[in-house]
Amino acid sequence: MKEIRNICCIGAGYVGGPTMAVIAQKCPHITVNVVDINAQRIADWNDTDLSKLPIFEPGLAEVVAEARNRNLFYSTDIEKSIQEADAIFISVNTPTKTYGVGKGMAADLKFVELCARQIARVAKEDKIVVEKSTLPVRTAQAIRTILDATGNGAQFQVLSNPEFLAEGTAIADLYAPDRVLIGGGEDAAGQEAIQALAAVYRNWVPKENIFTTRVWSSELSKLTANAFLAQRVSSINAISALCEKTGADVDEVAKAIGMDSRIGAKFLKSSVGFGGSCFQKDILNLVYLCRHFNLPEAADYWEQVVKMNDYQKHRFAKNIIDSLFNTVSGKKIAFLGWAFKKDTNDTRESAAIYVADELLQDRAEIHVYDPKVPAEKIYADLEYLQTQKTGCHPEGSEATRDLLNRVTVHQNPYDAMKDAHAIAILTEWDEFKTYDWQKVYEEMLKPAFVFDGRNIVDKAQLEALGFEVYNIGKGK
Ligand code: UDX
Ligand code: UDX
Ligand code: ADP
Repeated sequence: MKEIRNICCIGAGYVGGPTMAVIAQKCPHITVNVVDINAQRIADWNDTDLSKLPIFEPGLAEVVAEARNRNLFYSTDIEKSIQEADAIFISVNTPTKTYGVGKGMAADLKFVELCARQIARVAKEDKIVVEKSTLPVRTAQAIRTILDATGNGAQFQVLSNPEFLAEGTAIADLYAPDRVLIGGGEDAAGQEAIQALAAVYRNWVPKENIFTTRVWSSELSKLTANAFLAQRVSSINAISALCEKTGADVDEVAKAIGMDSRIGAKFLKSSVGFGGSCFQKDILNLVYLCRHFNLPEAADYWEQVVKMNDYQKHRFAKNIIDSLFNTVSGKKIAFLGWAFKKDTNDTRESAAIYVADELLQDRAEIHVYDPKVPAEKIYADLEYLQTQKTGCHPEGSEATRDLLNRVTVHQNPYDAMKDAHAIAILTEWDEFKTYDWQKVYEEMLKPAFVFDGRNIVDKAQLEALGFEVYNIGKGK
């Protein structure tokens, strides 16, 4: 297998975008073409105004500025980029299926399949095809079958190279990954392809951090890593519920258990619930796989992680309603944060969407402020949830219109909080800690409630100002 000098990445999203920017920056001798069917997205990646990049990630704009039009290119010409490439990364989205067999559980592979068919159709020379999206076990085999059956003579090697970056820290994670995982065929051609891809990463990743496995182990490791991480959050969240009833402090418990080196201190922050495009989707995939292979006990075990997360979001919303004297009807509730975590403009599966929906069902007036999420995204998220719940497109539905009419998005946090009955903190943006809470208190209705879903504000300080403060996992 020859050296990789030209890469095509299909899919210019949260995974493909930052990953390819860093590969291009670290490997000036490799040409990287990032392609997407979404022309607007490509135009945004090419925008000379770097604040218009389609995704917000600390440090990303600087990397793009350095490599773009040097050896990093964005285009919609997918076929040409495939033809020129030695290696093709598939980084398209793989949402949970919303229809048919495996609905609500299995990954929808239609975008991946389309990519495989397109590669098979246009590739005339041998290629390495790299599976970069999170995919269920044995997807590489499916890609391979499509390539072999519909190809026009070219030889393909299919590798699994899952991405472990977390949003908000993508660039730092890509610069210094805990590991790069590459799964490939066990025959000589498979091993050569693995080495060709490993050589790309070796430009900046120490070779001890590049771990190679068989394809299926690599695919399953990605699902398992996300399942374990999500399970830690659900585990500490389960303890937070107990802390609230018993008077223990979940942050103290987390610190105490995290000092056990077998447990470790990271990823034990109790919250309003995990979000993001990966955790729920990957666990549901794992559950589906376990059921498929007739392992119901293993399936139920993992499914409980998602159920616990749903419970945590519900518990937070219910606590707001209960505390506001059993109804939020007609009451202004300020939402600080909409993104699923800080330092990203991504809102996929954000807890904020579900908490807002529950309060809106109780007829609340929600006023949202998020430093990076645009208003149209917030409305689209709520509308999409209605589609999911009702199974039909809500456009024109009176109930949905009424619901969205009760949501206002603000550019200024103080406007969102003025005259509010309560503030709910849904994302841990650093700027929330710096607000003039005295001013906020004076401008709110009394009693002035703060529901801190991220335990970021200083409870004692706010209580001294007169606020009623509710935290996650802190008993009275
Ligand atoms: C995750 C994995 O971390 C990453 O390795 C994988 O490639 C993609 O999925 P991401 O979803 O971007 O990354 O962010 P992550 O930092 O894992 O946070 C996921 C969710 O869990 C967020 O909503 C976050 O707020 C929440 N979380 C995380 C907690 O509530 N508590 C924690 O201690 C950690
Ligand atoms: C445990 C806790 O580790 C210790 O901190 C606490 O004080 C008492 O309970 P112990 O039960 O003595 O200690 O042994 P431990 O090493 O934790 O093993 C418990 C069981 O888990 C054993 O049967 C062990 O074989 C099993 N185990 C442990 C595994 O199957 N896999 C592992 O990776 C670790
Ligand atoms: P992820 O978080 O997995 O990166 P995103 O939704 O952010 O997911 O990005 C996936 C990108 O893949 C989107 O920009 C989408 O337009 C693109 N995409 C999906 N299917 C195809 C396809 N067949 N060809 C090219 N691009 C595609």
